[in-house]
Amino acid sequence: MAKSDNKNFSVIVLAAGQGTRMKSPLPKVLHPVAGRPMVGRVVEAAKQAGAKEIRVVVGYGEMLVRQVVEPMGAVCLKQESQLGTADAVRSARAEEMEGTVVILNGDHPLITAKDIKNMVSRFRKGSAMLSVVTTELEDPGSYGRIVRHMDHVRAVVEAKDASADTLAIKEINTGIYVLDGEILKQFLPRIENNNVQGEYYFTDIISLAFDGGHVCAPIESPAHVAEGVNSQRQLAVATKKAFLRKAEALMDEGVIIVDPDHTYIEDNVFVGAGSVIYPGSYLRGTTRMDRFCVIESHCYLSDSELSEAVQVRAGSYLEQAVVKAKAIVGPYARLRPDTEVGVDARVGNFVELKKVKFGDGAKASHLTYLGDAEIGANTNIGCGTITCNYAADHKKYKTVIGKDVFVGSDTQFVAPLSVGDGAVIGSGSTITKDVPAGALAVARGRQVIKENYQPKKSNNDE
Ligand code: UD1
Ligand code: MG
Repeated sequence: MAKSDNKNFSVIVLAAGQGTRMKSPLPKVLHPVAGRPMVGRVVEAAKQAGAKEIRVVVGYGEMLVRQVVEPMGAVCLKQESQLGTADAVRSARAEEMEGTVVILNGDHPLITAKDIKNMVSRFRKGSAMLSVVTTELEDPGSYGRIVRHMDHVRAVVEAKDASADTLAIKEINTGIYVLDGEILKQFLPRIENNNVQGEYYFTDIISLAFDGGHVCAPIESPAHVAEGVNSQRQLAVATKKAFLRKAEALMDEGVIIVDPDHTYIEDNVFVGAGSVIYPGSYLRGTTRMDRFCVIESHCYLSDSELSEAVQVRAGSYLEQAVVKAKAIVGPYARLRPDTEVGVDARVGNFVELKKVKFGDGAKASHLTYLGDAEIGANTNIGCGTITCNYAADHKKYKTVIGKDVFVGSDTQFVAPLSVGDGAVIGSGSTITKDVPAGALAVARGRQVIKENYQPKKSNNDE
């Protein structure tokens, strides 16, 4: 039996477990690590490593897990009841798989494409048909212990089944295996459940294969590949590591991260070199920013796009927003979906924009709500301006304001309406009709002066 020279490899991801120790109604593998479900991270790593086929063994929360991994191109196979890891691998119909097969766990969120590639190439370089990925841990806890004979793995002994001597072994089974389909075909059907837990242990394949003349080679790997998540505490630890890893990758590309321990950037976010991220900010989804942007503390940016040298000042909240070069947003600004802020524009504190095209060089510096609006270039929106876009008929109406308009403070625009280029709106106006270009519109009560006015005293005071 020759080791497959096939360059491709297939992956099985074990993800049927409920994860009772998570104490959460969500299936364990769907708990997010840095914004992405754990099993999604594992499938993504396998894909990036070049797996030709990914089979995910599902059970608890099957439909929910399918919704995450099927769109990624994985095939789900159901394990009817959880009888152990060997039964899980059988549920993947592993006996029919050919060439190199990598078995991964859906709750090992820190594994990377590079780790998987390394394992596959180490397996291919060796002569063994079967290998187990191991690592050494100071505190090996409940992991299966690696019992070596010479330079190969003689057995994996579960902590629950181990003697005191075996428990002292620090080399553990990560639960990851690389093996040839032939081994699965021959020995997987022979695994039985004679152990303390009455489970079908996949690890029994090692001694079965040995008896059949095949040694198991260890593939020693960094400890993070073994880091499974079994509790909310471990989830938080993994999440911290994932964020730190992303921050370090960005720093390596020239991004300035003031405090990487307190910066939360999801994997798919892109940050251009020379940009600065202050502590406490959370950048998520498909957010992208060009060079020289500054994101001050405690900003939340989701699926947003920032051109070069944009400044987002402290405490701002951006959702599906587009901000063009050199614009300044915040502090404490809120940009809601379908908002585009133009080049050199200024959106100041306590300003909310929803579905707004905000022109180049336009300004709304303080305390303003603009919704369903277009604001022309270089227009100034005074403090306290409101577009009244939501009418009594429960419909939304649009406000279109031209360029070079001056809107005095405390103005309301009762949509639908439009204001022509260069118009001036007097402070405190409630504008209900279109304003032509170049016009002055004032819509407020006139000031009344009564000279020498003495209020009448009431009789009771006499
Ligand atoms: C297993 C290994 C142990 C190793 C450890 C690493 C066995 C017998 N033991 O132990 O040597 O140190 O992983 O984490 O394999 N699963 C299913 N269906 C099942 C049982 C498990 O899909 O019927 C999945 C789980 O969801 C999980 C993975 O398989 O993703 C590992 O199962 P788990 O129960 O955590 O195995 P351990 O007892 O931790
Ligand atoms: Mg486990």
